[in-house]
Amino acid sequence: MTPYNIDHVAIAVDDLDEAIERHRQLFGAEPLWREVVADQGVEEAMIPIGGSFVQLLAPLSGDTPVGRFLTKYGEGLHHIAYAVPDIAAALQDLRGEGARLIDETARTGGRGAKIAFVHPAAFAGTLIELVELPDE
Ligand code: CO
Repeated sequence: MTPYNIDHVAIAVDDLDEAIERHRQLFGAEPLWREVVADQGVEEAMIPIGGSFVQLLAPLSGDTPVGRFLTKYGEGLHHIAYAVPDIAAALQDLRGEGARLIDETARTGGRGAKIAFVHPAAFAGTLIELVELPDE
């Protein structure tokens, strides 16, 4: 399984409106859309840069994974998302390599994509998300 793109780089923020505005001010980039992903306890804004996105991620409450992340570490880099052609095959390969997974099977994320998180213990203390985009 080889990723074919960096789908997005996610940055955890306290205030989504403020972060979008600050990012616009500094880098002149506009979000293409934003959406609440209740399942993950977040609201996210996707800002296209080249063929990838920066995902600004704000928690819906303190008692969510991103809320706890912010309490522990403050704002900053949260995860990197690799686009893969077949997420089930990718998870199978990672399992075969003994990689620790957060999601044993894919679930539905933003944009109707199939997503799964790989535990930071699997590689360099970095949270990696796998993304299989829906067919256009
Ligand atoms: Co993500």
